[in-house]
Amino acid sequence: MHPKIEVKNLAVRYADGNRQFTALEDVSFSVAAGEFVSVIGSSGCGKSTLLGVLGGLGAPSGGGAFIDGLPVRGPGLDRAFVFQHYSLFPWMTARDNVAFGIKQAKRGLPAKARREAAEAFLGKVGLEGSGKKYPAQLSGGMRQRVAIARALAMDADILLMDEPFGAVDAKNRTILQELLLSLWEGAGGGEFVYPITEDGPSGAAATRGRKTVVFVTHDIDEAMLLSDRIVMLSNSPGRVFRQVPVLFPRPRNRAVLVQSEGYARLRGELLALFFNDFGDGI
Ligand SMILES: Nc1ncnc2c1ncn2[C@@H]1O[C@H](COP(=O)(O)OP(=O)(O)OP(=O)(O)O)[C@@H](O)[C@H]1O
Ligand SMILES: [Mg+2]
Repeated sequence: MHPKIEVKNLAVRYADGNRQFTALEDVSFSVAAGEFVSVIGSSGCGKSTLLGVLGGLGAPSGGGAFIDGLPVRGPGLDRAFVFQHYSLFPWMTARDNVAFGIKQAKRGLPAKARREAAEAFLGKVGLEGSGKKYPAQLSGGMRQRVAIARALAMDADILLMDEPFGAVDAKNRTILQELLLSLWEGAGGGEFVYPITEDGPSGAAATRGRKTVVFVTHDIDEAMLLSDRIVMLSNSPGRVFRQVPVLFPRPRNRAVLVQSEGYARLRGELLALFFNDFGDGI
């Protein structure tokens, strides 16, 4: 059995004048189906570059990325992306932005069903009633909710999220983290599944498991709350510095988690790795 995602000896080099700049070098790790993995590293270490390769938006210079054992050759409907910077179409309403994603992913679904599904997913992210607004009429946090709703609505096996809450204020960030956590953890209970299929409401969808998530962040608390494992990247060029399992039971609750045994110790270790030793001597 292949892992859902495998990154093998990945190198990415960019042209820098007449020289080459190595953004990633010999990066290898894998992600199991249904696993939530965070990639952490300081600014410029190559996190977006890595996610771009997984999304098929950027090509490897060496090694490669594999989904279900097959090399990534371009974007595909098996992967939904939430970009680092707001990436809604400004000329479309929130609902139409989500419906557009659905149109791509669920060909054959009639327009009315697409609109209903878009409204349903906006509801999941707490934006019921905001579907007719344009991105310019929404706050940053609301825009990012729409982007998340669009990604969820595409119902891809894999979610690639590039610092989705990085530009959101602290309070909304906390709310959105908990929203994502509950949607993802609730998948087994039918929360994270598609309400409508080509054949109408589907029982089969409700039995499907959690999405496989690669979540880029530079926030250790965020990574600890959400992830099953943290992949730490060192800087210049980015390499896998350490992989740290995060074994706290699920479903997780922030208040309980931060009080739980081992939390403070793991947080301290991660912070020390991140701020003190990170990348030194590599
Ligand atoms: N298209 C490009 N051409 C040349 N250099 C690039 C290009 N994209 C990224 N880089 C360089 O590659 C390195 C990694 O960039 P990347 O955007 O992947 O970092 P990051 O870890 O996502 O940073 P941040 O946390 O700030 O988003 C940086 O030094 C950046 O300047
Ligand atoms: Mg980035």
